[in-house]
Amino acid sequence: MQRIFVVTGATSGIGLAVVEALVRQGAFVIGVGRDPGRGAALEARLGGGALPGRVRSLTADLALQSEVRALAAAVRAEVAAAGRDWLDGLINNAGTFTFHRLLTAEGFERQWAVNHLAPFLLTHELLPLLSAAPMGRVVTVSSGSHYHTRLRWNDLQLRRFYNGLLAYKQTKLCNVLFTLELRRRSRVQAFAADPGLVFTEMGFKDNPALVRWIWALRRRSGITPAESAAGIVFLATEPSIQTAPEIYWQHGRPKAPDPAARDLESARRLWEISARLCGLQEGAAVNADGPRRARAGRESRR
Ligand SMILES: NC(=O)c1ccc[n+]([C@@H]2O[C@H](COP(=O)([O-])OP(=O)(O)OC[C@H]3O[C@@H](n4cnc5c(N)ncnc54)[C@H](OP(=O)(O)O)[C@@H]3O)[C@@H](O)[C@H]2O)c1
Repeated sequence: MQRIFVVTGATSGIGLAVVEALVRQGAFVIGVGRDPGRGAALEARLGGGALPGRVRSLTADLALQSEVRALAAAVRAEVAAAGRDWLDGLINNAGTFTFHRLLTAEGFERQWAVNHLAPFLLTHELLPLLSAAPMGRVVTVSSGSHYHTRLRWNDLQLRRFYNGLLAYKQTKLCNVLFTLELRRRSRVQAFAADPGLVFTEMGFKDNPALVRWIWALRRRSGITPAESAAGIVFLATEPSIQTAPEIYWQHGRPKAPDPAARDLESARRLWEISARLCGLQEGAAVNADGPRRARAGRESRR
């Protein structure tokens, strides 16, 4: 039976390579992008019938929770139209690095919104479909940048002192903590993927000349998106790791995450804060298939 995956950030870099690899394996991939033109290009590139699978592009600005929710509804409609009542995997790949502090129209710091809240909310919205799959997977693309950082609990969106790299590192730590807590609260198998250093355009987008220059130098030692994508596709599809205990993987092999990313209390606390910031009732709906209920946290939206 054809497997169905959702891949965010599907229109460039690592995400595009993940979509291509999955379509080559025969999957139906719902690729999410923020630009309709790039989405159409994705369909034109991979949807011509030459490959065993197929691709459908959906558009959403993941910085906005309203669009994440609309996206989830569109995904549910696509899955139903395909005659299925489950989703085999969600790959939370979309990400951004923004040097200057930018606020979304909903008032959130942009990296916090795109890199952390969007995967959190989209996973929540799609969890019933993922839980219904025989081998449901959630792969969230983190980064080696999660090492040697900590969460500023009193100022998670860095209102008082913003540093773009710090904000990025913090969200990538959140990706691992989110994965840890998702495993505890649901039946799906969840992984945090470290894609390595990859030759993509990421550092060029919406950033000043200095950042673009640094990224141009840094990415030269990176691997190709296709090489990186192989490890992520492995996490999304490999049957033998359905009950693997390791959370954090790089290039298809488990790797020890930073100790801060293994802290169960931090994972629980982050989940509760995120649920509240997404307007979810104490994260209760996320627990539809699990035994534990989240308790209300203390922080308020800052
Ligand atoms: N490259 C690396 O060395 C590296 C290392 C560690 C981790 N990562 C992680 O890998 C993931 C993919 O990054 P990449 O290197 O492949 O960079 P990329 O080519 O810029 O890919 C990022 C993707 O996210 C999408 N995106 C960004 N903001 C969005 C928004 N508001 N709404 C919807 N989509 C949005 C982009 O859309 P557009 O196509 O429209 O720009 C793009 O498709 C990210 O999570 C990143 O943090 C990358």
